[in-house]
Amino acid sequence: MSSYFITGVARGLGFEFVRQLSTNPANTIIGLVRDKTATEKKVSEELSGRKNVHLIQGDMVDYASLKKAVDEIATITGGKLDYVIANAAFLSVWAAFEPFSLLAKEPEKLEKELVDMFTVNVVGNIHLFNLITPLVLKGNGKKIIAISSGLGDQEMAINYELFQNAPYSISKTALDMAVAKFHAEYRKDDVLFMCISPGMVDTGYIDPETALLNDMIGKFMKYAPDFNGPTPIDVAIQRILSVMDKSSVEAGDGGKSLSQFGNKQWL
Ligand SMILES: NC(=O)c1ccc[n+]([C@@H]2O[C@H](COP(=O)([O-])OP(=O)(O)OC[C@H]3O[C@@H](n4cnc5c(N)ncnc54)[C@H](OP(=O)(O)O)[C@@H]3O)[C@@H](O)[C@H]2O)c1
Repeated sequence: MSSYFITGVARGLGFEFVRQLSTNPANTIIGLVRDKTATEKKVSEELSGRKNVHLIQGDMVDYASLKKAVDEIATITGGKLDYVIANAAFLSVWAAFEPFSLLAKEPEKLEKELVDMFTVNVVGNIHLFNLITPLVLKGNGKKIIAISSGLGDQEMAINYELFQNAPYSISKTALDMAVAKFHAEYRKDDVLFMCISPGMVDTGYIDPETALLNDMIGKFMKYAPDFNGPTPIDVAIQRILSVMDKSSVEAGDGGKSLSQFGNKQWL
């Protein structure tokens, strides 16, 4: 019997984590959402009868709500937690395709985008890890996984002229470093902090018809000639859970940022 806390479970990868992990009735699944009522409805419609799914309201930009969420988790689990999957993130469409030189035409919007990315994807997770690690130290799983992105990999940006998604990519590189720092602190306690990226997954947030996507996909295909489009969401989550399952502090995975394949092959 394992307990999992997953952020951003209202849709996308987060909801699929809940769907797959809750198939085992012995698991306790706790999800953080911004709109609890709407997600309760979705869970009752799509995962009806799963009594092991609990939803908690919280926002990654609201420290008080994260603190309250951690108190609620402790009440549900009896003061301990096995696994954390820090999945929630701000993904932008506005800055997804254009290079800095074009984003620069709206400097205030660009600045807000950079700050919002950092606030949600980096600061929010740092607060969450600080608040939740005491529960994980008392649990059995002792794994805190942040969902990152290959777009945060500097080599890929450099070698494939991948200027797309700049603010988001910067936030994921920073998240990778934050996780490395948490590992550096908690390695002695055998808590595995690591980042796992899902690859490109179709969650419906980008219109596949948009011409702007083609340039990025072209670069992806140069990077990975076998790449033939987004991974189905169920497969992506199976791969992440497999990497999470196999990884350990003892095996030297702590602080690393790995792909869905358990290596640095991002696509
Ligand atoms: N999809 C991909 O191809 C891909 C590729 C690489 C990495 N990733 C990573 O995978 C993870 C999931 O991505 P996804 O594609 O499933 O994204 P998504 O469909 O946009 O879902 C993001 C989730 O995060 C939540 N969220 C956003 N801001 C939040 C905040 N301030 N507080 C609390 N929750 C917040 C959203 O909540 P609401 O529903 O309330 O908006 C939503 O449930 C992210 O970390 C993303 O960076 C995805």
